[in-house]
Amino acid sequence: MGREQWNSRTGFILAAVGSAIGLGNIWRFPYITYENGGGAFFIPYLFAMASAGIPFMIMEFTMGHKWRRAAPGIFTKLGVDLKLRLQWLGWFQVMIAAVIGIYYVAIIGWSISYLGLSFTQNWGDNTNDFFFTQYLQLGAYSPFNLGDLLLHIAIPMFIAWSITFFAVYTGIKEGIERANKILMPLLLIIVLFLISQTVFLPGAQKGLNYLFQPDFSQLLNVKVWSAAYGQIFFTLSVGFAIMLAYSSYLPKKSDINNNAIITVSINCGFSILAGILVFSVLGHMAEEQAQPITNVVSSGVGLAFVTIPEAISHLPIPYILGPLFFTSLVVAGLSSHISIIEAVISAIIDKLNYPRKKVATLVCGLGFIISMLFATNGGILLLDLVDYFINNIALIFSCLVEVIILAWFIKASIIRHYANQLSDFNTGKWMELCLRYMSPVILLIILVRNLINTFT
Ligand code: PHE
Ligand code: NA
Repeated sequence: MGREQWNSRTGFILAAVGSAIGLGNIWRFPYITYENGGGAFFIPYLFAMASAGIPFMIMEFTMGHKWRRAAPGIFTKLGVDLKLRLQWLGWFQVMIAAVIGIYYVAIIGWSISYLGLSFTQNWGDNTNDFFFTQYLQLGAYSPFNLGDLLLHIAIPMFIAWSITFFAVYTGIKEGIERANKILMPLLLIIVLFLISQTVFLPGAQKGLNYLFQPDFSQLLNVKVWSAAYGQIFFTLSVGFAIMLAYSSYLPKKSDINNNAIITVSINCGFSILAGILVFSVLGHMAEEQAQPITNVVSSGVGLAFVTIPEAISHLPIPYILGPLFFTSLVVAGLSSHISIIEAVISAIIDKLNYPRKKVATLVCGLGFIISMLFATNGGILLLDLVDYFINNIALIFSCLVEVIILAWFIKASIIRHYANQLSDFNTGKWMELCLRYMSPVILLIILVRNLINTFT
């Protein structure tokens, strides 16, 4: 039996976009933009997108397409040519994906619970206290109640795992492709509708000014440039074995350059939409509470489960906009989670030659059990720690090693020519320069800065 394949080009692009668009676009991008020069941040961001995002995406699509294997298989093959042992790098990436898969699902689970709560805004007035003390049972005085934990956290996590399981168990065409063909258009419609309902509210314009107002003095700051590159690698899901796995199911005739550029552009376009949504909502809340918006901006878990719930209570028709907001988190999260788990599954299928259904059952079953760690009241602390380490160190390290091997040992020119010969649109020599010189230098700078920040 040959390797599974995507059914259509759109299907592949939607799946890649589904992986790229995730929680990071909604809760990380707006905050990073706001923090790093607002409107001026788009300069380093777009520059990072063109000089690192697109070349990396083309590089990963090329590798998957050429070797038709998941990450460990690809690096093994490359290692044979180079007389180096490289399989470990593939498994390292798969391991990162597995770790992310286990904690990402916790956040999707919380979003599912909050989707339920948002119909009646059952989180009360103190959303911070509600989330940490009552919902996660984290405070010193929180009563430990196993029944509540199961009901509020374990069951939603089980639901999230089941959806991912269903997609990966069913396979590339019928499962993953079909899921994304539903989830991605749904996500876009929900976000556009939410924007249409929030962007004209009192205060929203003020919020948007905060987001977009350019502070050009920030452009001379190394931190801003590292933030832009760091966000690009994270947001595009490169360096995690994911895009390698997805592109290993591409048919022989595939326009790699165009697919990569479209995927990257849709992801970044969606980030801007998410930024508009989040800052309209925050601006409106700040206005209602007559406080400066700087008091309410936040990112990550705090934004999604503390600030946004509070803001939802200030919106018109909160019982509709609230559930829609959390649905968008769930949808964005699930389509990424499916890709993370597929990266793990495809590697194991390639290695052991077991049938997909069996591997999917084992991986998701085991994953569910391990992810129960996050249903305990220490879960969020563990999550913060792992998330920090993965994003700031493991991912950057993995991208750095990958680009050195591919652009120097394999040669960026070979990759570029391979992709060009398949595509309508050809990339020029700039792409080799980006991969050989710029990306390694920038990744090294980010890695060193992050290591210093972590250990000092
Ligand atoms: N790219 C996703 C985002 O922006 C995150 C992600 C990380 C997806 C790892 C898949 C794997 O949220
Ligand atoms: Na993303």
